[in-house]
Amino acid sequence: MMTPTIGMMISGQDDLARSVFTDEKYRALAEALGADGLRVESIVYNNARAEALRAPLQHLDALLVWVNPLENGEDRRVLDALLLEVSRAGVMVSTHPDTIQRIGTKRVLYETREMDWGSDVELYPDFSDFVTRFADSFAGSHSRVLKRFRGDGGNGIYKVSQVPGEDGLSVLHAHRGAEVEHLSAEAFYARFENLFAQGQPLINQAWNANITNGMVRCYLCGDRVAGFGYQEIIALYPSGAVPVMPSRRHYYSAQCGLFSDLKRLMEERWVGQLMQRCGVEADALPVLWDADFFIDDPYSRYPDKYTLCEINVSCVSPFPDSAIPEIGREVRRRVSGI
Ligand SMILES: Nc1ncnc2c1ncn2[C@@H]1O[C@H](COP(=O)(O)OP(=O)(O)OP(=O)(O)O)[C@@H](O)[C@H]1O
Ligand SMILES: [Mg+2]
Repeated sequence: MMTPTIGMMISGQDDLARSVFTDEKYRALAEALGADGLRVESIVYNNARAEALRAPLQHLDALLVWVNPLENGEDRRVLDALLLEVSRAGVMVSTHPDTIQRIGTKRVLYETREMDWGSDVELYPDFSDFVTRFADSFAGSHSRVLKRFRGDGGNGIYKVSQVPGEDGLSVLHAHRGAEVEHLSAEAFYARFENLFAQGQPLINQAWNANITNGMVRCYLCGDRVAGFGYQEIIALYPSGAVPVMPSRRHYYSAQCGLFSDLKRLMEERWVGQLMQRCGVEADALPVLWDADFFIDDPYSRYPDKYTLCEINVSCVSPFPDSAIPEIGREVRRRVSGI
């Protein structure tokens, strides 16, 4: 076989602005793939470049993509249509747009709510359903978390709380620097109507008070765990008068004893159940993805220890160093069709 060519696509204005060979997040992976005998091309993406990239992308053997669901005011509709074409031309694309729709949007929380990692989750297909049903979801608690269908960085994630003895609702956006707002019911619904503008559903997940135990991100390559991240203080972390800032995320290898139970759960149960429920074959799993968990009770064992917060498949970076050889292995395996 000739040397396979692997495209690594990141977002940016032009080729001069960014390159995977110099960018801190991607350099080590680009070097490792190169050292492994693969030819690596750096590709900078924004919607204005989509047309010009159409033909060159089809000459690749594989295309690895790191572009957020919301990037510089652009969503991924143009890019995902392009990736679909590129994939039809025979290029291995990670993550395939069909897989994004099946496991990489907040809908996955609804589809897998009955799994052991699941929580109380509702899905509103349209605005009128949201207006009809949302208030009843407070039956079990004072707070809920509304999640836009597809987003990142806390954009479109809101903690919504009833304030005892008061009308209206308090709303806190998970985006950095946001402050609590108090809204009348009317103003609240008016605020959320535009989230349905693209015909996408809205997801409502129970507030998880165990957020104070921090979050563990489980990184996977295909169906194998490739490492972990742990962050103690994350968005929406309860704070007093002085807001707390998110803390650093620390990375660990797949062998880390702290998360050995989660590795086993993922590889032996949950990934299989996810694939079955969402209709994804093993080879359609992303080359690199992460499933993020609340640690409900550090002392308890399966099945009560972890709750799924979300799954990321569109722009998984940074990632642990331990994932680098696994990504290389997974790419090689897929381009050689083994
Ligand atoms: N049910 C919940 N209970 C408590 N906090 C939550 C809940 N859901 C989300 N959060 C907080 O909001 C943050 C953002 O939510 P989520 O991870 O679902 O969205 P995202 O925008 O895709 O984030 P990311 O950029 O990490 O991919 C979480 O990291 C967590 O701090
Ligand atoms: Mg996300």
